[in-house]
Amino acid sequence: MSVATSAPTVSLEDAYERFFPSSLAHYQAALDYFPNGVTHDGRYMKPFPVYIDRADGAHKWDVDGHKLIDYWMGHGALLLGHGRKEVVDAVTEQAGRGMHYGACHELEIKWADLVSRLVPAAERVRFVSSGTEATLMAIRLARTYTGRRKIVKFKGHYHGWHDNVMDGVGSDHPLPGVLKEVFETLITLPPNDLNHVEETLKTDHDVACLILEPTGELFGGTPLDSGFLNGLRELTTRYGVVFILDEVVTGFRCAPGGAQAYYGIEPDLCTLAKVLAGGMNGGAVVGTKDIMDLLEIRPDPEWQRKMKMPHYGTFNASPLSAAAGIAALEIVETGEDIIIANDLAELLRNQLSEVLQSHKLEEWHVYGAFSGVKISYSEDRSLSRRGNLDLIHSIRQGWLLNGVDMSGVDGLTSSAHTVRDVAHTAEAFDATLSSLKRDHLI
Ligand SMILES: Cc1ncc(COP(=O)(O)O)c(C=O)c1O
Repeated sequence: MSVATSAPTVSLEDAYERFFPSSLAHYQAALDYFPNGVTHDGRYMKPFPVYIDRADGAHKWDVDGHKLIDYWMGHGALLLGHGRKEVVDAVTEQAGRGMHYGACHELEIKWADLVSRLVPAAERVRFVSSGTEATLMAIRLARTYTGRRKIVKFKGHYHGWHDNVMDGVGSDHPLPGVLKEVFETLITLPPNDLNHVEETLKTDHDVACLILEPTGELFGGTPLDSGFLNGLRELTTRYGVVFILDEVVTGFRCAPGGAQAYYGIEPDLCTLAKVLAGGMNGGAVVGTKDIMDLLEIRPDPEWQRKMKMPHYGTFNASPLSAAAGIAALEIVETGEDIIIANDLAELLRNQLSEVLQSHKLEEWHVYGAFSGVKISYSEDRSLSRRGNLDLIHSIRQGWLLNGVDMSGVDGLTSSAHTVRDVAHTAEAFDATLSSLKRDHLI
């Protein structure tokens, strides 16, 4: 593993610029095309992001040839690591048989069968292309089913980037480009406050659905109190509100059947993506027959006009995604890879905590659950992700200079990581904190 050996007088940012010259050249080229030079807000970083050339197992290699331990894991899609043989073989074989049939095919049935076997709520399945599309569909279904307009979500919970679910600027302004009328249908509540939820559902009879991430914002960023999920299930049933678990991340990371199987909570609808498609693009909405059947085309014109939810999508259940998804879920089904990833995350959390103790950074702490690892640099955990972007970029520079690619304060393990990777990561954290201190950034 390459580790930067910079003279103590060189700042973290200068060392970074010197260490990744080919990435800098790529970034300069990218600036001619992409706003900020990037294709995803999360990939933006100062002074420039690293460019990756290839990946295998738990590692990626950048365009300058540095080996990096990866904790992005395809934005969470790669529970099994990069290039898991069964998945690669399935995709390769399928690519030779046809990338897109523009037709029904056997693999979509096999994929749906696995999802139905694993996920308790999956009485009916419909595939889409991403998690964003999945929550869009679930919300539209809930509105059609109930004839109501509003959505209840929780502060900081992320459900994709479509207009219905974007937190506003502050509490009462929609994001630029989001219609005020749409924003007014979004009720954002603090997590872990069942009384507040009950008061809202009792007084506002226009709530169609309640959606949440079942382990708290951003896979456990603000963990949920025990009893909160059960309480929500009970309240939504009582007030006739569609209960949607957004399991885009938790789906196949908490347990083969997702957080709903782990906690024993059955939602009315559930959204899936990421691990579902084994690293390819794909998503799904699953749920009860009476809601999901609103997708049915029926000969009754009244039904078509009033109830039928139209649904298209060029890449729904694409054969390549189905092939990858089947291969991945057949492995997930045993539960073994989830346990490996969870155990490694726990080991990593413990080792990073020890590093923090040795640096006597009392406001910082490491936490997380399942295969998630979170670092907070202030008592207010949510502030650590949204607060000081400059510090997060400096932390990322430190990680990368020391052979680790993590989104600053958030990481995900896979079953391809090893105890050795964890030990290297702890050393990288130690070196990163030392550099941050030396540069008076912390
Ligand atoms: C809980 C959750 N829901 C929805 C989404 C959106 O999924 P996608 O990025 O596939 O559109 C994400 C993405 O990170 C997510 O974490």
